[in-house]
Amino acid sequence: MIVVLLGYMGSGKSTVGQLLAENLGINFLDLDDYIEQNQKTTISEIFNSKGEIYFRTLESEAVKQICNQSDSLVLALGGGTPCYADTMQFLVNHPNVVTITLNVPIKNLSQRLINEKAKRPLIANLKDDDIPEFIAKHLFERSSYYNQAEIGIKTDALSVEDIVAKITLKLL
Ligand code: S3P
Repeated sequence: MIVVLLGYMGSGKSTVGQLLAENLGINFLDLDDYIEQNQKTTISEIFNSKGEIYFRTLESEAVKQICNQSDSLVLALGGGTPCYADTMQFLVNHPNVVTITLNVPIKNLSQRLINEKAKRPLIANLKDDDIPEFIAKHLFERSSYYNQAEIGIKTDALSVEDIVAKITLKLL
């Protein structure tokens, strides 16, 4: 089984994914890290030098390659990965993939992202005060993709351990 975690930037995909993989006894892979290692540069640098569309193509190709080559894995996508090309369709139709969306309230996403915006090119240049509205609009555009996941997890006030426990129950 390949467990694929989706959700907006700052929704906790990597943190939750690492603990989930540990509990399931399988490997964890973060798509952004995978792309950075393969391209030998950072996501911000790829956006700056080659542009967003180039990055979206890399993401889409990487997801397909990973899912077609692995048997068991927890894979954390980037926030935009399922929203471009036919990636979401590919994931939902893949016989070995289970898709899970982490749903986090805008207020919590805003707090997290204001503290960590530097490494995220889509928000790095926004004023802190403009971030909540940006997230609200962006989530509105992306939610039709996130909602296609087989499992949706409301993370609200839950700890990482509780989120992982909730996911594990749904996977049984
Ligand atoms: C992006 C999310 C980022 C990264 C890139 C674009 C997005 O990943 O892939 O900055 O479009 O939402 P995280 O969701 O891991 O921050």
